Amino acid sequence: MENHPIIIGVTGGTGSGKTSVTRKIMANYEDVSLAYIEQDAYYKDQSHLSFEERVKTNYDHPLAFDTALLKKHLQMLLNGQAIDMPVYDYSAHTRSQETVHISPKEVIILEGILILYDEELRDLMDIKVYVDTDDDIRIIRRIQRDIAERGRSLESVIKQYTEVVKPMHEQFIEPTKRYADLIIPEGGQNLVAIDLMRTKISAILLEKKK
Ligand code: ADP
Ligand code: C5P
Repeated sequence: MENHPIIIGVTGGTGSGKTSVTRKIMANYEDVSLAYIEQDAYYKDQSHLSFEERVKTNYDHPLAFDTALLKKHLQMLLNGQAIDMPVYDYSAHTRSQETVHISPKEVIILEGILILYDEELRDLMDIKVYVDTDDDIRIIRRIQRDIAERGRSLESVIKQYTEVVKPMHEQFIEPTKRYADLIIPEGGQNLVAIDLMRTKISAILLEKKK
């Protein structure tokens, strides 16, 4: 029997429904311990920069993330060690002072736009999922969410989307679809795909307990 946790990666473009899919996969797992890790928590610390400089950062480029720390933390969880996960503040564009203590769990769900970009990171995952949603739907959701939840103006979301988010999606995010084991159209609405995922997770857990 292998004791290390299983790692499930959920990726897709901004606003594709990654968080919604992840929540549905995680719902009602009474007898399984789960940890939810967002790649966004591992955006590089930018507290040494001014707010004006932080606004200019390209947050859709692989280099925006502290991937070394993310891999270290996943490895620690795989080794049965607890981690102190960073907490990201989208309004300040940097890490907050807080961290979240995460003890080892049976299942780890890692969610983020570029989790399939790095080969070593990919190799840590047991199941890789790409949530595939049309660009027009994603931008509409992004506008609504960034204004309501991330302290942004309509103008700033549109400017960032056209100048950075869209080209980076085409260059770096969409091409990682080829690494996915499962491509989920319609995101959180796709109950068949979510059910398949849950069945697969249960089967892996059962296999480990043998
Ligand atoms: P991501 O994590 O990929 O950025 P989210 O799951 O956070 O995407 O979804 C982005 C926004 O779109 C959220 O405000 C969410 O409530 C909304 N949303 C997600 N899926 C749907 C859906 N199927 N129908 C309508 N709104 C949705
Ligand atoms: O949740 P979602 O997948 O949309 O989060 C990733 C997005 O967050 C990226 O497309 C990036 O442009 C955005 N982001 C931002 N400002 C930051 C950090 C990330 O707009 N400070």
